[in-house]
Amino acid sequence: MNIVSTINEVRKQVKEWRKQGLSVGLVPTMGYLHEGHKSLIDAAVKGNDKVVVSVFVNPTQFAPGEDLETYPRDLDRDAALCEQAGAALIFHPEPSEMYHRDYSTYVDMRTLTQGLCGKTRPTHFSGVCTVVSKLFHIVQPDRAYFGQKDAQQLAVIRHMVEDLNFDIKIIGCPIIREEDGLAKSSRNTYLNEEERKQAVILNRALQKGKEQIESGERKSLEIKQTITQTIETMPLAKIDYVEVVDFQTLESIEEIKGEILAAVAVYIGKTRLIDNFIIRV
Ligand code: PAF
Repeated sequence: MNIVSTINEVRKQVKEWRKQGLSVGLVPTMGYLHEGHKSLIDAAVKGNDKVVVSVFVNPTQFAPGEDLETYPRDLDRDAALCEQAGAALIFHPEPSEMYHRDYSTYVDMRTLTQGLCGKTRPTHFSGVCTVVSKLFHIVQPDRAYFGQKDAQQLAVIRHMVEDLNFDIKIIGCPIIREEDGLAKSSRNTYLNEEERKQAVILNRALQKGKEQIESGERKSLEIKQTITQTIETMPLAKIDYVEVVDFQTLESIEEIKGEILAAVAVYIGKTRLIDNFIIRV
């Protein structure tokens, strides 16, 4: 497995693979890889001849005051995981390689990005869409893999690919959880022992909401109340949002119908965690 840091090196390698008629999968990440990322790489290895993993803590998706500087990084560990999983190439650029000094072009989506995480992180999805577009242009993969844990991101990227006519199939992969149900996230490393214990409440609350839907409840307000009240039983939990939306439009719904996304963002201490479930009724 090769690790490269320049756009030219990626392009050269992918061109060689293309000449040989090989298919290419891309797994975009910000590094500090865990089993959630590994499941994306596994799916990519299964579905493509060659897999590129990008490891880049993208500055444009962090607002001032967010955790850009402290975001965990460990390239050696990431490289070992990628190699073991069967990836062929890691693209690990410096910020200056992706954003030159006069950089000024951004991809802004007018729908889907205002609610949920976009409410408290209004510039986040512009950064995500911009960097993902750049990675798509650089790697030109056949398929790209994203986790369902960032369900809004998955919906936004699917929409962007359609809007901008990228000839890339977007594959969404299921959430991978710790044994107690906490969704795997690089940010879980920020939690101290007590916070880590209380963080299980996100999944527990969502499970209760899901069971309510499975038992026939169709009012989204009831589901939101159940989830909210369950989260509020943990003293260190502070809710950013609890939402039930249509998974296509990401707009709030009153009645549970079609494919819906129930999503939460909760601060456990200072750490903001997200989790969700998608259900079709
Ligand atoms: O999900 C992430 O890790 C990031 O948002 C992504 C897609 C790699 C873009 O920086």
